[in-house]
Amino acid sequence: MRGLTGKVAIVTGAGSPNGIGFACAKRLCEEGVRVLLTDIVPDGAEKQASELRAAGFDATATVQDVTDEKGWDEVIGLAVARWGQVDILVNNAGVSIAAPATEMTLDQFTRQIDLNVISVFLGSRAAMRQMRAQGKGGAIVNMSSVAAFVTGAGSSAYAASKAAVHMYSKTLALEGAAEGIRVNTVHPGITNTNMVAKAFSEAPESIQTMASAIPALRMAAPREIAAAAAFLASDDASYCIGSSLLVDGGVLLQ
Ligand SMILES: NC(=O)c1ccc[n+]([C@@H]2O[C@H](COP(=O)([O-])OP(=O)(O)OC[C@H]3O[C@@H](n4cnc5c(N)ncnc54)[C@H](O)[C@@H]3O)[C@@H](O)[C@H]2O)c1
Repeated sequence: MRGLTGKVAIVTGAGSPNGIGFACAKRLCEEGVRVLLTDIVPDGAEKQASELRAAGFDATATVQDVTDEKGWDEVIGLAVARWGQVDILVNNAGVSIAAPATEMTLDQFTRQIDLNVISVFLGSRAAMRQMRAQGKGGAIVNMSSVAAFVTGAGSSAYAASKAAVHMYSKTLALEGAAEGIRVNTVHPGITNTNMVAKAFSEAPESIQTMASAIPALRMAAPREIAAAAAFLASDDASYCIGSSLLVDGGVLLQ
């Protein structure tokens, strides 16, 4: 992909070996990007970064709670101290807690808003300020979901949070456009990660039933979502501003 070599990226929620975040970090590294992986799990991101370094890539890691405002200054500072700039942010960390709306606790609802929406606000703001100061544009990729457009019983908070990411990103895209700071969203369908394993932990056998209802007849692999994120971060997407890239195996066609 054009324009990625030598860039500096931050990818959040990148500490799970089979997660979308790590897949994004790996794909960006393969495209010649220097990557700071972050995750709330102690050693999670560091373990993944060391795997990338062992493969010859320039990657480092830090522990971060993406809902912590001050932590964002530290994360941006870390990338700048090491590489002098921040060109790409992938706001990937997120959570899904399913419960019927009448059973959902306030804690469950606010956790999803904090982790899926407030984190995107804090991260995008911090990155955009840094990119603006650098004066040479940048790319912010926010991980939304098909749940921004369609929902299911039990997903009230998650769908609301991902719809918020979708529209928040569009406004941000408008505000950054003239400076070459492009903001776009990726909308994965069901992807084979721990998030899905957890959601189906009580009935793992129904994963296959669910997958067979997808037009593609399977879940996405994390690398298929990462490819979309890398494209939006690259100069190949230079005219994508506020776009919403569906990577859903055809789910929204039905
Ligand atoms: N898996 C799917 O089917 C699917 C579908 C659509 C969208 N998404 C979105 O893609 C993103 C990644 O999903 P995934 O399936 O890889 O999830 P995952 O649960 O496998 O990984 C999420 C990662 O985020 C980290 N994390 C959790 N809380 C954090 C915090 N406060 N600060 C920093 N890191 C934190 C976790 O430790 C974990 O490593 C999420 O935003 C999710 O909503 C996933």
